[in-house]
Amino acid sequence: MKLNHILFFSFLSVLFNQVLTLNILGVFPYEGKSHFFVFAPYLKELARRGHNLTVVSYFPLEKPMENYHDISLSKDVKILEDAFPIKRSYWTIIQISFFLINSGTENCKTLLDDENVQNLWKSKQKFDLVVTEQFNSDCALGLAHALGAPVVGLTSCVIMPWHYETFGIQYNPAHVPILFLEGGTKPTLYQRIERTILHLYFVYLHKLTCRKENDKTLAKYFKDIPPVDELAQNVNMLLSYSHNSITGPGLLPPNVKEVGGYHVAKPKELPKDLKKFIDEAEHGVIYISFGSMLRATSTPKDKLEAIIGAISELPQRIVWKWEEKNLPGNPKNVFISNWLPQNDILAHPKVLAFYSHCGMLGTTEAIYHGVPMIGMPIFGDQPGNAGAIEESGLGVQIDIRHLTKELLLEKFKIVLNPEFRRKVKDLSRVWHDRPQSAMDSAIYWTEYTARTANYSFGTPAAKLPIYIFRSWDIIAVLGTICLAILISLKLVITFLYKKLSQKPKIKTN
Ligand SMILES: *[C@@H]1O[C@H](CO)[C@@H](O)[C@H](O)[C@H]1NC(C)=O
Ligand SMILES: *[C@@H]1O[C@H](CO)[C@@H](O)[C@H](O)[C@H]1NC(C)=O
Repeated sequence: MKLNHILFFSFLSVLFNQVLTLNILGVFPYEGKSHFFVFAPYLKELARRGHNLTVVSYFPLEKPMENYHDISLSKDVKILEDAFPIKRSYWTIIQISFFLINSGTENCKTLLDDENVQNLWKSKQKFDLVVTEQFNSDCALGLAHALGAPVVGLTSCVIMPWHYETFGIQYNPAHVPILFLEGGTKPTLYQRIERTILHLYFVYLHKLTCRKENDKTLAKYFKDIPPVDELAQNVNMLLSYSHNSITGPGLLPPNVKEVGGYHVAKPKELPKDLKKFIDEAEHGVIYISFGSMLRATSTPKDKLEAIIGAISELPQRIVWKWEEKNLPGNPKNVFISNWLPQNDILAHPKVLAFYSHCGMLGTTEAIYHGVPMIGMPIFGDQPGNAGAIEESGLGVQIDIRHLTKELLLEKFKIVLNPEFRRKVKDLSRVWHDRPQSAMDSAIYWTEYTARTANYSFGTPAAKLPIYIFRSWDIIAVLGTICLAILISLKLVITFLYKKLSQKPKIKTN
């Protein structure tokens, strides 16, 4: 009996392994460090669970790992650390949009020009699945097509504007935030107009430049390749690095899953000096980090003075990620370092608040550990995230253009209130309450995609012509009918009126 059981289970596990061990190709042609930082734990976890990974990226592993094979693109490309202009204006948005389409065009060329990448299709290596970032360029989908593999798309932030149409998700400015702009889920009329224009700008700029260029590049390497537009519509599954509690609830088709949170690792012990500084903080600690957004060289002097002025008046100790040795005025309660273990700091029970630029990673770590935030967004998805945390109750937001010492102290007072913190702990509990952890869910949908590769779970909306998708033809038909009825009615009424108003005249005659 027992032996039977053992035999049965070993048979099952053999079967299981056979079914589940996948040969996976990861393609990450964008060189942004904060993006790959999200994907790395997921890729390693896939390898740890026995899948065979080949990963094309700018970030080869530092320590080799079983089942994980790198193809590095990082020969002579400078890694991007998100050092962008901090000024918030329409001009900055236009500059960044051009940066995105140019890098999307270049990344495609670099990817397909690489000899090791070319060997993948020349050697006819077989892959069960391609996982790839869906950000500024969908060029990797051409490679997946050539290899005949199903695709799981990944994002490291909210879904990009051009992917709304691709996945058949109707972008609705009435309640869906957009990159670069504020307004949360309750925008004003002005903000809705702003969103509509920016959305159309992004979608058409991307379609007419990046995608066109990617089509040309792909055509050089692959015969009879469908346009990127079409390849993108056929992506089997998109794992969006978001969660409705921090990006607002959206309407998503069955092949788009929210898996935000899988990058957060189990907290580790803090370095000795930092641990002592936090442990001994009588009134708790505030953690400040703007990633690499605000630097000593790029932060306006009056803004820096406002922040230092505010924190000097607080009884809490401050841990601040800052790349210089000192802060102007040398406030006593501050621990500065240019590198800090953010996740381990936020996990410490003495950390009471997080003052941040509201990047997706930091915001996710804050909700994970239940730490109230002050969000001071700079660009990208940060304004949207900041709006969402204010609505969900995870924190409050402050506009860098209006930053003063008094305003900042006011915001600190709000988030340091114990009642506010209690609600954030509740919110964190809700965030964690899912049928599966974010990582398990990401892995599940990845394996599911390989198992169900012959089926499509996308909405048919993705493939409809825009006039049908938006019901313009229906509006045109019904509008024409209404107009015809109105015109006929008018003619009839005029006719009757003439007839009737003539009658009395006859009588009086
Ligand atoms: C695993 O991936 C490596 C690198 O692409 C490849 O050389 C190897 O043949 C793969 N192993 C299996 C079992 O497919
Ligand atoms: C998909 O269909 C093809 C052709 O019928 C078959 O060979 C393949 O095994 C199927 N793939 C999966 C994942 O079921």
